[in-house]
Amino acid sequence: MAQLIDGKRISQEIKDELKIEVQKMEEQGISVCLAVVQVGNDPASTVYVRNKKKACAYVGIESRAYELPEETTEEELVRLVEELNQDASVNGILVQLPLPSHIDEDRIIRTISPDKDVDGFHPVSVGRLWIGEKGFVSCTPAGIIQLLKRSGIGIEGKNCVIAGRSNIVGKPMAALLLRENGTVTVTHSRTKNLSEITSKADILIAAIGKARFITAEYVKDGAVVIDVGMNRDEEGHLCGDVDFEDVEPKVSAITPVPGGVGPMTIAMLMNNCVETVRC
Ligand code: GUN
Repeated sequence: MAQLIDGKRISQEIKDELKIEVQKMEEQGISVCLAVVQVGNDPASTVYVRNKKKACAYVGIESRAYELPEETTEEELVRLVEELNQDASVNGILVQLPLPSHIDEDRIIRTISPDKDVDGFHPVSVGRLWIGEKGFVSCTPAGIIQLLKRSGIGIEGKNCVIAGRSNIVGKPMAALLLRENGTVTVTHSRTKNLSEITSKADILIAAIGKARFITAEYVKDGAVVIDVGMNRDEEGHLCGDVDFEDVEPKVSAITPVPGGVGPMTIAMLMNNCVETVRC
């Protein structure tokens, strides 16, 4: 039986630790405030934003919501972000993505001060991560490192294979695993003989965005499998990039979907918010 890596439990543990840390900070007169900006009302974004606000309330972080209409111009959004950069009472800024198509996302991300970039998306944060400097790290890959560490799974010297090269998951995941002294391979949609590479992984990170794509033939006996996928199958059920039933009997540890990587993203966002005020 594979070890089930319980993201729900581990994310709760992290939020509880942060809650205690925030309480201690409050006793010293230090508070944490996150500005959450949403443009338009994409239903998925609304759910994410609601969950982020709920997590803030739990941990003791003030969340300040900016809900802007779909017609907001790029200039108006830039001005709001610049105001939030200047506002000393705001520690972190999160602009929920995707933005409406008339707004240049990259420009907005670059407008957020790297000191308040709790998503870790700013090119300065990305650069800091790759050269091993302190800075904000993208929440999902940071959460995966915590899942591994808190499940007693070592990374040093392991053959780590990442399937997927997105800026939010695949690339920062590579930097983090490298920082932990893993031997890292990044595969992508143009990779030839994918299963030949993934089946040599001690730790396999699946971040492809294709429902149940990773079957047993992609996985080595006794591997650790982390499933970042959040897909809907034909019946509309949430499922990962890994065919759990097929893969689970073969591996030593695996994350479920839901309840694996998903809950970790918000826990790490809360950690990044607290990080803004840590000495
Ligand atoms: N949209 C989906 N995930 C995220 C995230 O982690 N951060 C932001 N800002 N937008 C998102």
